[in-house]
Amino acid sequence: RPRIFSGVKPTGHLTLGNYLGALRRWVEEDQYRADALFCVVDLHALTVEHDPARVRRLTRQAATLFLAAGLDPAHCTLFVQSHVDEHARLSYLMECTAADGEMRRMIQYKEKVARESARGRSVRLSLLTYPALMAADILAYGTNEVPVGDDQTQHVELTRDLARRFNQRYGPVFTVPRATPPPVAARVMDLQDPLSKMGKSHAEGRGIVYLLDETDVVRKKIMRAVTDSGSDVRYDREERPGVSNLLDVLAACTGGKPEVLAEEYTSYGALKGAVAEAVVEVLRPLRARHAELSADPGYVDGVLRAGAERARALARPRVDAAYAAVGLLPPA
Ligand code: TYM
Repeated sequence: RPRIFSGVKPTGHLTLGNYLGALRRWVEEDQYRADALFCVVDLHALTVEHDPARVRRLTRQAATLFLAAGLDPAHCTLFVQSHVDEHARLSYLMECTAADGEMRRMIQYKEKVARESARGRSVRLSLLTYPALMAADILAYGTNEVPVGDDQTQHVELTRDLARRFNQRYGPVFTVPRATPPPVAARVMDLQDPLSKMGKSHAEGRGIVYLLDETDVVRKKIMRAVTDSGSDVRYDREERPGVSNLLDVLAACTGGKPEVLAEEYTSYGALKGAVAEAVVEVLRPLRARHAELSADPGYVDGVLRAGAERARALARPRVDAAYAAVGLLPPA
């Protein structure tokens, strides 16, 4: 069975993008066909300005949503990154493997730096070294596949480079992983701005569907989505980004193909209505289950404790081997 690792960063409430781009496939496929680990990567949340109490709350909420969405601790391992020291330990070796130039070339880094410096603000050093920690997350477990949305594939490519480079220098310690983006909805766009990604850390929430939004809020956000000039429903991500995004969401929720679904609708209004209903149906059980689980934090804690224990046992020997391989004297 392949080993799978993936994660979500608790920097905001989880969105429909997180669900369709990642979580849904973990639930429906990955946990059953592979030895899969899913992680709330809380250390990554410290790379930007953060409120400690909020990060703590969002970490628990993300873990609860993993369970509410249908991840089953009998089939996969769920844990919190900071509970397993191996991530930080290995991250340092990844920093010693990477060149600073390749870190600076990461699109997400460049975008965030541009945004912050436009406001006259600097960024944290950990934002630059972020991909080293992400590589450590993945490589510590001998991961074969990394199910992520499109926006993370560049980071996984860098992880592959680091794994190969490390192995070449010091011997075969790491498995070279690959990203496995979903066939549709690999990049869900903001409903108010279909040229940018639907992202949980955006300040403006009107174009973002959060997994825990109330049903009428979800409907309203989708009905008010920005569509394109013209009126024919056509799947064309270049010429019709707004409509195509809605078709992608609909396809992901109903299991259809966006090009085929386009032929079923003659107006934007009808398409939006169908998308709203499809999303509401997908999120309804998730929200109900989240409410049940929130009433039982002891259960969630227990799952995370057992998950961290298993993760630690899996990661420890490989990280120890990496430490020894680079020339660090093993403790007697
Ligand atoms: P994060 O927390 O931004 O997103 C979690 C997952 O959701 C996907 N995603 C999307 N997919 C489609 N459309 C969108 N609009 C959208 N927004 C987010 C992301 O691609 C991701 O799969 N760096 C990672 C977290 C991470 C990680 C890892 C992932 C840290 N270590 C190791 C995999 C393996 C991140 O910030 O994801």
